[in-house]
Amino acid sequence: MPIGTTITEYIIEEQRRIQNVSGDFTALINDVVIACKAISSTVRYGSLVGVLGVADTENIQGETQKKLDIISNNLFIKRNEWAGHVAAMASEEMDDVYHLPNQYPRGKYLLVFDPLDGSSNTDVNGAVGTIFSILRRPEGARGEPTTRDFLQPGDRQVCAGYALYGPSSMMVLTTGHGVNGFTLDQRIGEYILTNPNMQIPENTHDFAINSAYMRFWDPPVRRYIDECLAGKDGPRGKDFNMRWAGAMIADVHRVLCQGGVFLYPIDRKLRSKHQEGKLRLLYEANPMSFIIEQAGGLATTGTERIMALPPAGLHQRCSVIMGSKNEVERIIAYHLEDQ
Ligand code: AHG
Ligand code: MN
Ligand code: MN
Repeated sequence: MPIGTTITEYIIEEQRRIQNVSGDFTALINDVVIACKAISSTVRYGSLVGVLGVADTENIQGETQKKLDIISNNLFIKRNEWAGHVAAMASEEMDDVYHLPNQYPRGKYLLVFDPLDGSSNTDVNGAVGTIFSILRRPEGARGEPTTRDFLQPGDRQVCAGYALYGPSSMMVLTTGHGVNGFTLDQRIGEYILTNPNMQIPENTHDFAINSAYMRFWDPPVRRYIDECLAGKDGPRGKDFNMRWAGAMIADVHRVLCQGGVFLYPIDRKLRSKHQEGKLRLLYEANPMSFIIEQAGGLATTGTERIMALPPAGLHQRCSVIMGSKNEVERIIAYHLEDQ
């Protein structure tokens, strides 16, 4: 049985192209990959090992935690805290910056993650996944990393990726030189390069939005979706499909593979709760935006490029509209016309 390029081989070859690198980054990615394999395996056993259902806790954002949210968070931390590549971590499931135990050396990278995206899907055997983003600790920073060290715009990401636990497990990665997809070969336990140089089609007829919130949408979003729904009889002159997996990771993966636009926009209901969006900038919006842009798509709040946003807090949320270039440009134009 021939074995294709493994994710480790791929990362090492990427590093060889860059001079003066220490190999820390390759080792860090390796640990992230092992963490994702462990989470993938746990998710797959589901009810057989009693990991489904809710825990008796809430996260900092007041959301009920699933048992798998906590298990995935712990697996990710344990795998990445010991080797000396990371300076500190931050996760959707932890209130504050995670400082490494004293006995472990500190590295130069900051690791930011959503351990289990779409965790409401766990109880219905739907797709879920892990999203991560790697930043460099700011130059000259001393002592234990602080929250402020993490508040860097998405443009400063060194790497972003996600592991999707669907019918097969996939890892999608960018280090700023395009996007590559790997599929976990369960027979040998390795992610193998299966989707090199992923590119999002510029045009599409798919959109993904939770239309239960339609009555709260801002006029530009309402206009865009109304025009899609009007199909051949409307101004777009073609029919559209709607898809919603309930997990950003699965919906954005579809967009990456086949084109489309994913929207979780700010709306009147979120504003009334003083929220700037539903999805989190550091753990969800920035890493997915980096991947989408590297694949030729666009990612915006409607009025601003997501990766240019200066984060004000670890758990900051933002409006998210991302996907095929021509569609996102159209939605941005609708927002401009509305101002
Ligand atoms: P998480 O499970 O990490 O909290 O994220 C869930 C997010 C996102 O993945 C998904 O697109 C969205 O929440 C779904 O929200 P609605 O239930 O409001 O549609
Ligand atoms: Mn999430
Ligand atoms: Mn989550």
